[in-house]
Amino acid sequence: TTDRIVLGIESSCDETGVGLVRLGADGSVELLADAVASSVDEHARFGGVVPEIASRAHLTAMTPTMRRALDESGLELSDVDAIAVTAGPGLAGALMVGVAAAKAYSVALDVPLYGVNHLGGHVAVDTLQHGALPSRCLALLVSGGHSQLLLVEGVAERITQVGSTIDDAAGEAYDKVARILDLPYPGGPPIDKLAQQGDPKAIAFPRGLTGPRDSRHDFSFSGLKTAVARWVETEQRAGREVPVADVCASFQEAVADVLTAKAVRAAQDLGVDTLVISGGVAANSRLSALAAERCAAAGITLRVPKPRLCTDNGAMIAALGAHVVASGAKPSPLDLAAAPDLPV
Ligand code: KG4
Ligand code: ZN
Repeated sequence: TTDRIVLGIESSCDETGVGLVRLGADGSVELLADAVASSVDEHARFGGVVPEIASRAHLTAMTPTMRRALDESGLELSDVDAIAVTAGPGLAGALMVGVAAAKAYSVALDVPLYGVNHLGGHVAVDTLQHGALPSRCLALLVSGGHSQLLLVEGVAERITQVGSTIDDAAGEAYDKVARILDLPYPGGPPIDKLAQQGDPKAIAFPRGLTGPRDSRHDFSFSGLKTAVARWVETEQRAGREVPVADVCASFQEAVADVLTAKAVRAAQDLGVDTLVISGGVAANSRLSALAAERCAAAGITLRVPKPRLCTDNGAMIAALGAHVVASGAKPSPLDLAAAPDLPV
């Protein structure tokens, strides 16, 4: 057969991921394995990812995670036809572990190596669940490290940034607000849960960059985080009990409102009819509900991969690698370097 097996390696932040996909002769991409090891618990007491700890954890986890992915798929290393690895953006030391591993496997197996962009991986992963993307679509990428609007004109061919956060990422805002409220890290899941019991209209938190003179497609979340901190402080000084569920619901509403309003507006400005939402924050219940509502009203098809595919993993890198292989692009040279600031 002309099917090809593509292996993907991800190590840009705190997840060590190894994924395997099958690239069909027709360009279709099928998920075969998705093994992830996370060092999130080791970072929890610091309230954020500690780069040195992440790098060491990748080193320990890489080989066992590779083994798990192979076992899950029933394949052997000798079945692999190409290797894709996250070249950037991400933490320098963390990326270097994945890139070094990918080079070693590429040489040992004598198969081509493809350094790919992590952000493109977050978009490409959707094809594993929902099939090929239309020739043009918009992606809203929201995680602990990124908050971006991307115009996708071929996931392996052309991705251009339409807007991005000018300060904190959306997930970062969740993590910082969780800290203010004494909730565990990462802050997204506990805030999402508490918000279910709160009133989203209880507190009118600011919507960043939504004034008439503000950038249409950029985001800002640091003012929102400060507003939450001030509001909580004022209540505490006055000796009042902080209504945590209402704070969570009102904060969450502000984030979901801005993200969905700007994504729909960008889609309309660019004339695209499909929106993909990916990254860890895509798991947020209010974000997906409001996006579904607003996309339906605007006639936009919404695609949100399941949470497991939205957070960092190796399958997304294997998926993007497969699309790159299918595009006929040249492999990367063996002196491929980690690129912490790699642009889209
Ligand atoms: O994509 P991801 O796993 O890692 C990167 O940052 O690349 O995203 C993690 C981020 C964290 O900031 C976490 O708080 C947030 O995603 N997150 C959520 C939810 N689940 C995870 N944010 C809001 N609501 C959620 N349900
Ligand atoms: Zn990511």
